[in-house]
Amino acid sequence: MMKFVFYFTVISTVIFPLGKCYSEEKNVNNNMIINAPFENFERKFKPDWKDLDTRQLPKWYDDAKIGIFLHWGLYCVPGYHSEWFWAYWKGGDKEIVKFMADNYPPGFTYQDFAPMFKAEFFNASDFAELFLKSGAKYVVLTSKHHEGYTLFPSKRSFSWNSVETGPHRDLVGELSEAVRQKGLKFGVYHSLYEWYNPIYLEDKKANFTTRHYAESKLWPDLKQLVNDYKPSVIWSDGDWEANDTYWKSTDLLAWLYNDSPVKDEIVVNDRWGIGTSCKHGDFYNCADRYNPGKLQNHKWENAFTMDLTSWGYRRNMAIQDVMSIDKFLFHVISTVSCGGNALINVGPTKEGTIAPIFAERLLELGQWLKVNGEGIYESSPWMSQNDTFNHFVWYTCRKQQYNAYRPTARPKKSDTVTAIYAFFLKWPSNNNDMLVIADITKYLQKGNWQVNVLGYDEPLRWETTNTGKTKIYLPRIEKVKSKHAWTLKFKPRQ
Ligand SMILES: *[C@@H]1O[C@H](CO)[C@@H](O)[C@H](O)[C@H]1NC(C)=O
Ligand SMILES: *[C@@H]1O[C@H](CO)[C@@H](O)[C@H](O)[C@H]1NC(C)=O
Ligand SMILES: *[C@@H]1O[C@H](CO)[C@@H](O)[C@H](O)[C@H]1NC(C)=O
Ligand SMILES: *[C@@H]1O[C@H](CO)[C@@H](O)[C@H](O)[C@H]1NC(C)=O
Repeated sequence: MMKFVFYFTVISTVIFPLGKCYSEEKNVNNNMIINAPFENFERKFKPDWKDLDTRQLPKWYDDAKIGIFLHWGLYCVPGYHSEWFWAYWKGGDKEIVKFMADNYPPGFTYQDFAPMFKAEFFNASDFAELFLKSGAKYVVLTSKHHEGYTLFPSKRSFSWNSVETGPHRDLVGELSEAVRQKGLKFGVYHSLYEWYNPIYLEDKKANFTTRHYAESKLWPDLKQLVNDYKPSVIWSDGDWEANDTYWKSTDLLAWLYNDSPVKDEIVVNDRWGIGTSCKHGDFYNCADRYNPGKLQNHKWENAFTMDLTSWGYRRNMAIQDVMSIDKFLFHVISTVSCGGNALINVGPTKEGTIAPIFAERLLELGQWLKVNGEGIYESSPWMSQNDTFNHFVWYTCRKQQYNAYRPTARPKKSDTVTAIYAFFLKWPSNNNDMLVIADITKYLQKGNWQVNVLGYDEPLRWETTNTGKTKIYLPRIEKVKSKHAWTLKFKPRQ
């Protein structure tokens, strides 16, 4: 995607009657628990951050937990280095300059890649079927990356869109329909800036005191996207050279939330101008591959790539560049445990296919979710995130109430927790298959609990110790359905 150059992997005292576990802490100003219908639907938002930031998070997004991100654009034609190919080439990157000199005729331009983008095997319903099987609940496609080439017939990208050059197809249109037909939500990524758009460059030269690009290109394009394709997510990017005053971000969001055809269900990220990241938006993204490993105060998303070094497809990707299933599940589980959604990126090819290694990983995730998904979808953060004794164990819970103002809050006194889940990423290495954890102990010592491992029918034997540990006696590993990470379910008996 994104700030490619700045890659950073940024990475209580409790009382509980039966069936409950809650924190006595009060949330500052967020005590209200609202089930649908949202207050959002009744009100008008002012175009300032203070007001926009009071919007409740549409529940579908918090429930979904897992989405697919697709970086697809002309960079998949050279399929080399990354989606930042053009900028690095023009910036004189030695490897790319040599790659072009070795493989393309003199005078070849980036624009010359466009006719070579054919997407001849692209079948949107096959894509959608794969994403459905992966267990994802939403799909976000790059409607336009920083190169400016649009995957929809933008009325302001004359000869620089997928209908007029390249595949001669409306890729946003085809995918949005196919994805919805499978019952998934559809969203668009959109780069605010365009590296070499002359109108943008003029505004930039004027230190963004003029706004010709924002007003005559960006805004109308975004409105066309929203009106024609009704996305449920707008994933904004390329915001970092100018402030939100230049982009008129708050005006756009007020329109989206008040008057657009997607006002009730739209969610947006946090890249809306200098200084907005990790501060504003329905969900925070904060940085590429953000996975902080602890509970966040605000709904957030971990956008990460299956190809460890690029968001766009690379033809020279090697097997060791592909994230292992264990790493992959670690990201999904730890992210959800800390209140995030996982947005998993794969870059389609210029032929319109998804590399089989990516497809295989996605299908493995889908298999895993079939067994373990009840601890992921519609879950909430629990009192602990990773266990203080056994760091490989991550918790979530299910509760009846949805906290639309603060979906990442720990369970409160007024919440009814119906189950607690503990995911363990490593099977215990001792001979008797005994897992030892700590943070659940004080809950188990009160009330009456049934403990299961998902993918195995019999309840498990367990005991708590006077040193605050819980020992759980697992079945033999081969008797449990999952092969990579496992889920304990703690259910209060009635
Ligand atoms: C896409 O694939 C499905 C089967 O997977 C097929 O029924 C359909 O005709 C294909 N669509 C196109 C446009 O080729
Ligand atoms: C933009 O800002 C720079 C640095 O502050 C200044 O030198 C330049 O004159 C400004 N340009 C315009 C068109 O205002
Ligand atoms: C945003 O940028 C414009 C143009 O450079 C400037 O006039 C304005 O003061 C800036 N606003 C903020 C809040 O920094
Ligand atoms: C898990 O928790 C411990 C502290 O309890 C911490 O040191 C560790 O970094 C956490 N995160 C991960 C990813 O293990």
